[in-house]
Amino acid sequence: MKVLVVGGGGREHAIIRKLLESPVIDRLCCAPGNGGIARDAECVPIATTDVTAIADWAKQNTMDYVVVGPDDPLCLGLCDLLAERGIPSFGPRQNAARIEGSKIYAKKLMRKYGIPTASCEIFSDLALALRYIRIAPCPMVVKADGLALGKGVVICQNRDEAEEAVRDMMERGRFGTAGSRIVVEEFLQGPEVSVLAFTDGTDIRPMVSSMDHKRALDGDNGLNTGGMGVIAPNPYYTSEVAEICMRTIFLPTLAALRTEGNPFSGCLYFGLMLTDNGPKVIEYNCRFGDPEAQAVLPLLESDLFSIMQHVTAGTLKDADVRFFPGASCCVVLASGGYPTAYRTGMVISGLAQAEALPGVSVFHAGTRLNREGEPITAGGRVLGVTAVGDILPHAITQAYKATENITFEGIQMRHDIGIKALQLP
Ligand code: AMP
Ligand code: GLY
Repeated sequence: MKVLVVGGGGREHAIIRKLLESPVIDRLCCAPGNGGIARDAECVPIATTDVTAIADWAKQNTMDYVVVGPDDPLCLGLCDLLAERGIPSFGPRQNAARIEGSKIYAKKLMRKYGIPTASCEIFSDLALALRYIRIAPCPMVVKADGLALGKGVVICQNRDEAEEAVRDMMERGRFGTAGSRIVVEEFLQGPEVSVLAFTDGTDIRPMVSSMDHKRALDGDNGLNTGGMGVIAPNPYYTSEVAEICMRTIFLPTLAALRTEGNPFSGCLYFGLMLTDNGPKVIEYNCRFGDPEAQAVLPLLESDLFSIMQHVTAGTLKDADVRFFPGASCCVVLASGGYPTAYRTGMVISGLAQAEALPGVSVFHAGTRLNREGEPITAGGRVLGVTAVGDILPHAITQAYKATENITFEGIQMRHDIGIKALQLP
């Protein structure tokens, strides 16, 4: 079969490495891919947001199946365009992708169907928003409605900060139309858990849970990023918590989307906070997390492509979804300065030595090949170095050992991925 993967980050590299294990795929392509993906698949130079060009290319090149990685093409309706051309795909339709594409849509859905989440107020009028934040309890969380590259969430300790955030979004247009409507939300506390789940809209098979590390610097300091490292499974996510989440969050979310006429098919990502009042939804994503996928997929024992086909066919109940019993740790190597200004074009060395270590995979994110065919940096998050081990401390030690082999100028990483998880009593 001929399969196209859409995207060019570490998540897509992790997906491609799993798809390479499938015996039925004989041609694997990726649009646009990156310097590491180029060694595992044929790269096609089309931007992920050029959804018509991607759908046309898939048709012209007789692709049998398309896996869509990032949120933008999903929210732009790529899976709908593919369906019009008769090509099955992994990912939700545009109407179901709104669960990530519009925070207001997600909040209204949760409110209507009693799914536990932070209480909130929704505003499309600046004056009303400013009036509300003067009386709202502090701290409060101000969120842009639309996609904002993970930067549309501001945790405000006081009313001045909240006013600044509201004006930034609604008056100064910092996120364009994504910030013209906002959510002002109650501040929640507790450990965070990411749960990625395969779903065909009716059945759901959660994957191994994980813990992202969103801040740029050690000790959860510095700015929010796309994610600097992940461990899986997340030790806070006990089987008891999993059972509560299934009953109060996962199944009700799928039922709500079906009732609204927007059934969800693909990977549904639940960003959860385990509060004293039980698990609550912080956010939904309509896709695999990045870098969660780089830690979770290496633990998948079953055939990913077969699961994806079951998801698309609506037969997930018949799929074999098993995970290895061990643990994994992914450490992101970023370019100095990320998530603000950073340089690109630095030569990367030591990748082969790192990957030669047992249990280690190096997933490329912001990389490309130079004229000599050497990998060079081409983005903020450059690599995801994952190690799988029998227990979490082994996975963490091995991932950090692998990072010691890799060098590029200005390399930036966190040194404490998984430490919080290890300190659990
Ligand atoms: P999001 O982009 O929605 O994932 O939000 C980014 C991060 O902001 C989350 O991972 C949380 O750490 C934090 N956050 C979002 N909403 C809340 C909330 N209501 N209370 C506390 N922290 C939050
Ligand atoms: N790591 C968080 C996300 O993929 O949105």
